[in-house]
Amino acid sequence: MEIAEKALNYFTDHYEEKLDQYRDFLRIPSVSTDPEHKQDMKRAKDFLMAYLREIGFERVESFVTPVHPIIFAEKSAAIPEAKTLLVYGHYDVQPPDPLDEWISSPFEPEVRNENIYARGASDMKGQVMAVLAAIDAVTKSGELPINIKILFEGEEEIGSPSLGNFISTHRDLLKCDMVLNPDSGMSSPNSPSIIYGLRGLVYFELRIDGPKADLHSGVFGGNVANPAIVLSEIIAKLHNPDGSVAIPGFYDKVLPLTPEEKQKIAGAGNFEAETLKVTGVPRLFGEAGYTPLERAGARPTLDVNGFYSGFIGDGAKTIIPAYAKAKISCRLVPNQEPDEIYSLIQRHIASLIPDTVKATLFKHSSGPAYLAENAPGAKNLAWALSKTWNQPITYKREGGSVPVATTMQHVLGVKSMLTGFGLPDDAIHSPNEKQHLPTWKLGVKALIRFINSFGAPLDI
Ligand code: BES
Ligand code: MN
Repeated sequence: MEIAEKALNYFTDHYEEKLDQYRDFLRIPSVSTDPEHKQDMKRAKDFLMAYLREIGFERVESFVTPVHPIIFAEKSAAIPEAKTLLVYGHYDVQPPDPLDEWISSPFEPEVRNENIYARGASDMKGQVMAVLAAIDAVTKSGELPINIKILFEGEEEIGSPSLGNFISTHRDLLKCDMVLNPDSGMSSPNSPSIIYGLRGLVYFELRIDGPKADLHSGVFGGNVANPAIVLSEIIAKLHNPDGSVAIPGFYDKVLPLTPEEKQKIAGAGNFEAETLKVTGVPRLFGEAGYTPLERAGARPTLDVNGFYSGFIGDGAKTIIPAYAKAKISCRLVPNQEPDEIYSLIQRHIASLIPDTVKATLFKHSSGPAYLAENAPGAKNLAWALSKTWNQPITYKREGGSVPVATTMQHVLGVKSMLTGFGLPDDAIHSPNEKQHLPTWKLGVKALIRFINSFGAPLDI
C-alpha cells in the first residue's frame, strides 16, 4: 500500500509536467495514412523512444517496417520471479479533416472546460501517455513489481499491415504473462470498462470509370451511363430495406448472440440515449431485430466511408463525371473471416456492374474480430479500476477494431486486457477530438494501482 500511495502522490505532484509532455506528443501530426507525414511519424517515434529512456527503460529499440517503425522497450522488475506485462499502443492518428470544423487547430492542443482538444487526444496518444505516466510514477516511488515490455506501432489507423509479421517473427522478444491494451474506452465518466470483444474490419474501394474525361451533360447526357449514378445504384443494392447487409453469405458464419449474452449486454447502461446525444441524429437506424448495443458490439455492418464523383466545388457545372469512387468498409464479428467476406463482396459487386462502365475494386486492409473473456491480469485491473472510480466496472463489447488483439491471441496465445479512458463523446476520428482530463487523471491512478497490485501487500 505504501508504494501505491507514494506513486499516486508523485503523479499528483507532477501532473502539470505530465500534461505538458502529453501536449508535446499531441503537437506531432503523426498521420499514418498520409505519405506527407512520413517525417512526423519518425518524430513521434523518436519522441516516445526518448520518453521511454527518460523513465528508465533499459532497452529501447525501433524496428524498420515497410511503412512506419515499430518500437520495442523493456524494463525489468527488481524481483526475479516477477510477472511480465506487455503494453501495446499506437502513436499514429487519423487524418484531421475536415479542418474547417475544428474550433482549435488539430495539432495545437488546447484545454477548454476540463478537456484537451487535439487529434489523437483520446485515440490514443492520451492512453499511451497515461500508461507511461503511471510507469514513471511507480518507478520513481519504489521498485517496479513487474517486468514491463512495450510494443508501440505507427500503423494501427491503417490496419496494422506490418505488425502481424513483426509479432510472428519476434515471439521470444514479446513473451509475456499478460497484455495491457488501452486502445479502447469507457461508457461514461463514472463507469470504467474492461472490453472483452471488438469488431473486425475489411476496408475496400470501388471505382467506376465511364467516359475517358468529364463530358458536357447536354451534349452527351442521355447516351452515356453516368458513373455517379451507376455507383449509387450499386451502393443502394448492398443493403436490404430492413437494414441488413444484402451480400449473399455475409451472415453465414456470424456467431449468434446467446440469450445469456443478450442479457449481459442489456445491462450496460443507457446506450441509446447517449448515442442520440453524441451523434445528434433524430432517430437511430440499424439492422432490425437487435438493440443498439447489440448492433454496436456484436453484429456486422457495411458502411460507405467516402463517396466522390464529379464537380463538388461551389456553384454549378454541367458535366457527366468521368469516374466515381467510394470507400466502403464492413465491421466484422466472430466468426466471420475477413478474406472470405472480401471474396463474397467481390463476387456480389461483380454481379452488379453493368457493361456500360468499367469497375475496379481493391482492398485497403482487413482484420478479424476479437472475443475473449478473463484475460490474464484482468482481475487486478478490475480491482484497480473499481477502487479508483469507486464504482463497479462494466464488461462490454466494442464496435471499433484493434487488429493487434486478435493477432496476439492467435500468434502469442495471450488474451488482452482491453481498456482505456476515452469517452463516447470524445469525437475520435472526428473534428474536435478531445480527452476528458479528470478521467485521464483517474486512468493514470488506476494504472498505478494496477501495476502496484503485483507487489505485496495489497488489499486485492
Ligand atoms: N481505438 C480505436 C478502436 C476503438 C474505438 C476501440 C472505440 C474501442 C472503442 C482504434 O484506434 C481504431 O480506430 N481502429 C481502427 C482500425 C482500423 C483502421 C483497422 C478502426 O476501428 O476504425
Ligand atoms: Mn486507437
